[in-house]
Amino acid sequence: MNHSNPTFLWGAATSSHQIEGYNDKNDWWAWEALGKIERGERSGSCTDHWHRFREDLKRAADLGMNSYRFSVEWSRLEPQEGQWDSEAFDWYFELIQECERLGLVPMLTLHHFTLPLWMAEQGGFSWERAPELFGRFTRKVVERLGAKVALWCTINEPMVLTAGCYLGQFMPPAIYSPEKARMACHHLLKSHVIAYDLIHREIPKSESRWKEITPQVGIAHNMIDFVPDRTWSVIERWLAEQLHQFYNISWLDAITGRGQRFGFPMLMAQAPIVPEANERVSVDYLGINYYTRARVQFTPKLNGPPINVAFARKGEAASDVDWPIHPQGLQKVLKIAGSYELPVYITENGIADRDDDLRPRYIREHLREVAMARQNGIDVRGYYYWSLLDNFEWVKGFDPRFGLFRVDYNTFERTETHSARVYQEIIEKHKSFGGGAEDLVKLASFLSE
Ligand code: GAL
Repeated sequence: MNHSNPTFLWGAATSSHQIEGYNDKNDWWAWEALGKIERGERSGSCTDHWHRFREDLKRAADLGMNSYRFSVEWSRLEPQEGQWDSEAFDWYFELIQECERLGLVPMLTLHHFTLPLWMAEQGGFSWERAPELFGRFTRKVVERLGAKVALWCTINEPMVLTAGCYLGQFMPPAIYSPEKARMACHHLLKSHVIAYDLIHREIPKSESRWKEITPQVGIAHNMIDFVPDRTWSVIERWLAEQLHQFYNISWLDAITGRGQRFGFPMLMAQAPIVPEANERVSVDYLGINYYTRARVQFTPKLNGPPINVAFARKGEAASDVDWPIHPQGLQKVLKIAGSYELPVYITENGIADRDDDLRPRYIREHLREVAMARQNGIDVRGYYYWSLLDNFEWVKGFDPRFGLFRVDYNTFERTETHSARVYQEIIEKHKSFGGGAEDLVKLASFLSE
């Protein structure tokens, strides 16, 4: 596996708090206890992955995957400021070793939405010290796990995190503060750059079976295909474009040193909530999380911005959480990501589909778009389905079912879905063409059948 002829990475993604169980020292755990989750649910023992990780990883490997994206839980590793839990590090080391044994290249995410409580209490990423503390945490992870990990994802969806915590109020601390949103955005970018430099500087010599993979550090950025609700409306067309620039583009520009081409006035916020541009490229690949499209509506109101983001229309093909199924949007966002001339990974793509009747087609159609993107010259290197198994879907609790494996939350039993077999068949077919990224092009016709 090298840069000129990279083996395409087929994987699934998860995150610590959504599967492990008993992450009782983070901000989400505390927030859940306040009754903030739908139906009053709490993550509790979750999928009990903490005790079942070996069987879960085996499931991934049995489907033919050759990579696995997961996150380390900061609140387990540093439960109190400056105190490190050696056993928790050992657990992640074992997880990574197990990946290696099973032929799964690990992609390690350092931050996926949750914060240690001690950090959240000081303001989380809106706190000035956040970048320094994130840097210290990164250093520990690199020291302990770095010899086994080449693919790094610093921060999952910085824009979603900022919006969720300080604008849309669907993540703790769920307050409305454009000023804090602005601070968080800047500190997240700073944190990323610190981690990027630190990993490259301090990563130990590889002791993994994939020594030939050069360390790569990126982020996972959520992108949505924003369209005007009414195509004839000049103002909705304009708003959709503004939102696109703000939500999709500003982070990509900032981490690639392209400068801040755009400062979204945010209509409601006086301060532009975009990360300040970094002066150089501080990313080796772009990770894109893509799920859906959204319709932008002009809705003048007395308080708040005159904008509303809507998802599925009545009767439109959509997931159980009402996200329209829109594979062409993936093509669009990949084209944008490709314009930065960096390798691209699809770090998340998936659907909540309890009955598993839409998912097989969802996977095939989205992968066809990936194959076509490759055909159009975009350097797509991997695809991670979200998610390996059903899990705790944040404020929506356990109801949405994103998994390739169903989880029974009483017995923790896992059941393979038909989609899992469809994904397996696609991976096998691709391997029969050679398995390189360029072989995706051959896969396109298979996926069109
Ligand atoms: C992403 C997030 C994941 C997962 C997924 C499905 O935004 O990174 O943690 O929740 O959405 O909603």
